[in-house]
Amino acid sequence: MKALILVGGFGTRLRPLTLSKPKPIVEFANKAMILHQIEALCKVGVTEVVLAVNYRPQLMSAYLQPFEEKLGIKISYSHETVPLGTAGPLALAKELLNDGEPFFVLNSDIICDFPFADLLAFHRAHGGEGTIMVTKVEEPSKYGVVVYKEETGEILKFVEKPQVYVGNKINAGVYIFNPSILNRIQPKPTSIEKEVFPAMAADNQLYCMQLEGFWMDVGQPKDFLSGMGLYLNSLKQKTPEVLATGTHIIGPVLIDSTTVIKPGCLIGPNVTIGPNCVIEEGARLVNTTVLEGTTVGKNSWIKSSIIGWNSSIGKWVRMENTSVLGEDVHVADELYINGGKILPHKSISSSIPEPEIIM
Ligand code: GDD
Ligand code: MG
Repeated sequence: MKALILVGGFGTRLRPLTLSKPKPIVEFANKAMILHQIEALCKVGVTEVVLAVNYRPQLMSAYLQPFEEKLGIKISYSHETVPLGTAGPLALAKELLNDGEPFFVLNSDIICDFPFADLLAFHRAHGGEGTIMVTKVEEPSKYGVVVYKEETGEILKFVEKPQVYVGNKINAGVYIFNPSILNRIQPKPTSIEKEVFPAMAADNQLYCMQLEGFWMDVGQPKDFLSGMGLYLNSLKQKTPEVLATGTHIIGPVLIDSTTVIKPGCLIGPNVTIGPNCVIEEGARLVNTTVLEGTTVGKNSWIKSSIIGWNSSIGKWVRMENTSVLGEDVHVADELYINGGKILPHKSISSSIPEPEIIM
């Protein structure tokens, strides 16, 4: 079986992290976002993943190349010269995708348990052209909303980013399609949500399956941190042995084995710390992601923030309110950072008392 992952777009909502790396290879819970997806696809027997890219494909392929052998999967690239939206890339990759079997399609910025085997079984059972996974959210207006027959899952209506309330079941960005969908799409800029799904629904060819467990689009900092919390809680249920333990740990926390945590720290709940970091004595971290190679100074207090690669935070720093530090950012001692978005390679020597972008 094959799969296509939509990895286009500039990831602007996840800046300043995406100024250093394309969004799919930014680490989410210590693993590149896209690897969570590729690993899950491998488990269900997918042998080739096509990445539909339109932005910096070299960085991505250099990063992913070792994983092809490691996971025993082929990764191909379908490179758009102009962005083709969410449907056009399927037509562009037609030759790579069509082996006569159904194939999976994924948005690259979503995290969940990826129940691909259940999705495939459901898809085969109803016999329609496509199946999309749906999940329930509180704020449906920023997603694609689905109205369907409870008994069969047949979709009656698909409305992308509705202005008025239609329902609260939304498109989770995980699909499986029969190759015949390719007859509906041309290799030109096309939205699968606005152009293809409504037509399939009108032809009674689109079904949906309710996703069990957690789901989050982690394409922006606030949701990235909420998604991390949901993901860590799910690890706690399923593979608690991978989580950090000790009297200095509260709730689910993931720490790379190469990272050093000095005495007197208190870490968690909902924290991930990447490789080669140093957390100095007495630091307090809550609901935070620390990326590779970063140092957090003595007695600093960091809440609901993302700290980019190879950065350093001084002593007695207080940081909160979805602050996001890019790569190689240095924060001096005793500062207060409140919702600051700090671009890469900056040295910060005065506090940021109100949310602000520091260029
Ligand atoms: N190759 C390629 N080319 N990929 C693209 C392009 C493009 O021109 N434009 C967007 N993508 C990719 C993005 O990288 C992402 O993986 C996916 O398509 C969806 O784009 P987003 O920009 O993240 O869309 P969204 O989050 O506003 O809405 C989509 O996702 C929601 C779930 O998170 C829609 O599919 C909604 O219906 C859905 O509910
Ligand atoms: Mg998205």
